[in-house]
Amino acid sequence: MSFEKKILCIGAGYVGGPTMAVIALKCPEYKVTIVDINEEKIRKWNSGELPIYEPGLEEIITKVRGSNLFFSADIKSGIKESDIIFVSVNTPTKTFGLGAGMASDLQYWEKTAQQILENSEGPKIVAEKCTLPVKTAQAMERILKTNNNGAQFEVVSNPEFLSEGTAIQDLLEPDRVLIGSHRTESGLKAAEEIGKIYAHWVPREKIITTNLWSSELSKLVANAFLAQRISSINSISALCEKTDADIAEISYAIGSDRRIGSKFLNASVGFGGSCFKKDILNLAYIAEGYGLREVAEYWKKVVEINDYQQERFVGNIIKAMFNTVVGKRIAIFGFAFKANTGDTRESPAKFIVRKLLEEKAILSITDPQALENARIDLAGVEGEITFERDPYRAADGASAIVLVTEWDEFKTLNYEAIYKRMKKPALIFDGRNILEHQKFFALGFNIYPIGKPSLTYLK
Ligand code: NAD
Ligand code: UGA
Repeated sequence: MSFEKKILCIGAGYVGGPTMAVIALKCPEYKVTIVDINEEKIRKWNSGELPIYEPGLEEIITKVRGSNLFFSADIKSGIKESDIIFVSVNTPTKTFGLGAGMASDLQYWEKTAQQILENSEGPKIVAEKCTLPVKTAQAMERILKTNNNGAQFEVVSNPEFLSEGTAIQDLLEPDRVLIGSHRTESGLKAAEEIGKIYAHWVPREKIITTNLWSSELSKLVANAFLAQRISSINSISALCEKTDADIAEISYAIGSDRRIGSKFLNASVGFGGSCFKKDILNLAYIAEGYGLREVAEYWKKVVEINDYQQERFVGNIIKAMFNTVVGKRIAIFGFAFKANTGDTRESPAKFIVRKLLEEKAILSITDPQALENARIDLAGVEGEITFERDPYRAADGASAIVLVTEWDEFKTLNYEAIYKRMKKPALIFDGRNILEHQKFFALGFNIYPIGKPSLTYLK
């Protein structure tokens, strides 16, 4: 079969996989290939057991895989035959050297640039899909311009705004698609080529074009603003716990103001995920690099409040359990950083579990999708942990349930039965405020929500 265009995506992760699956679904005349250095991951993408859990993803993959969507470990051939290359590799926080703990680690991205350079024979559009520091496209261009085989490259920025757990919905109906390019003839032409892909299903007015640097920076700023809302509401949750105000009522009251808006105002154990923390720190690092210390400090506070919220939550657990959890059984409900994903990167559960283990608690962890990652994350960590798919069994003999992830499954369990299986007094720490607190209190539980008065018999 001959295809009108050949699209390649380098990086078959949480972004590359779902994004390209949707492009393949909506653009049957394009051949879409996803490559990765991780051969095991590619094997999984080609199998019945996908490497990531994302609602709706499997159905799309089943439809398009082998028709116009292909997964491969042959990066060289992929680059050679492609017209458009999306780069969607990981860009974690640097853990070594200059900028350690704040800057973006660009080693994977740089390797990609070298791979593209070495294997290109004709003209290509290179679209940055991964989240990068502002001005990275300039570095990409510098690398690509060192070629001497006549291949022409146009670099554009096309950041991704999907959220895990709702990735498919976000991709099918995005609030916007952002494309940044040089305002030159070839730059604008490249932006139009990328825009044409999305125009298959996204209304034209939602496809925003900007200059390259605005696009790169917008991605970091979008994440910083979203995370800032969570830290803002979480900071107020601490004040609620001191004053008997109720954070859910406050979220509703302030969110009803259309200028504030109701989304992303759920107080929690803190935000997790692979991007918020790393992108804010990266933003702060960039600001510092330009001598803007106050700007950097301002954004770093969003991360500090997030750390504080997690520490506060663990502190509340220990205090409510009579200042000691030594030898006490605690069930951890949820290990993923949010519901509907198996991803545990930067999950608050990791911090909470480690702290409770340091205090010598005995933990049983349950999660509908994240147990495999939890096992990997906690390998070698000292302490008594069991992993239990069945939440009822996880709660067996436990003195407390610590709810970390807002899975629907946890809302609808038979808590009367769970209460009977637990050691008394039975405590629940609802780190997501998703349970019916009054009802649970009536069952006999002592309830400790976030930013609300606790309901307890242990006065
Ligand atoms: P990921 O770790 O899930 O996937 C990245 C993949 O790239 C990995 O499979 C890795 O093996 C592969 N890779 C690395 N170097 C390679 C190379 N040289 N050649 C081929 N493959 C290579 O990461 P992710 O969550 O998909 O994130 C990718 C980027 O997208 C990051 O910059 C992230 O900030 C951004 N982003 C992520 C999300 C999200 O929700 N996860 C949303 C929007 C943007
Ligand atoms: C986030 C952004 O929402 C995406 O737009 C962006 O593309 C992505 O980061 C990225 O660049 O990686 P994601 O991290 O997948 O997406 O998930 P979110 O839904 O944003 O949740 C992040 C964290 O905040 C989770 O731990 C979640 O539980 C927490 N959260 C979210 C709250 O604590 N309260 C809220 O009100 C909302």
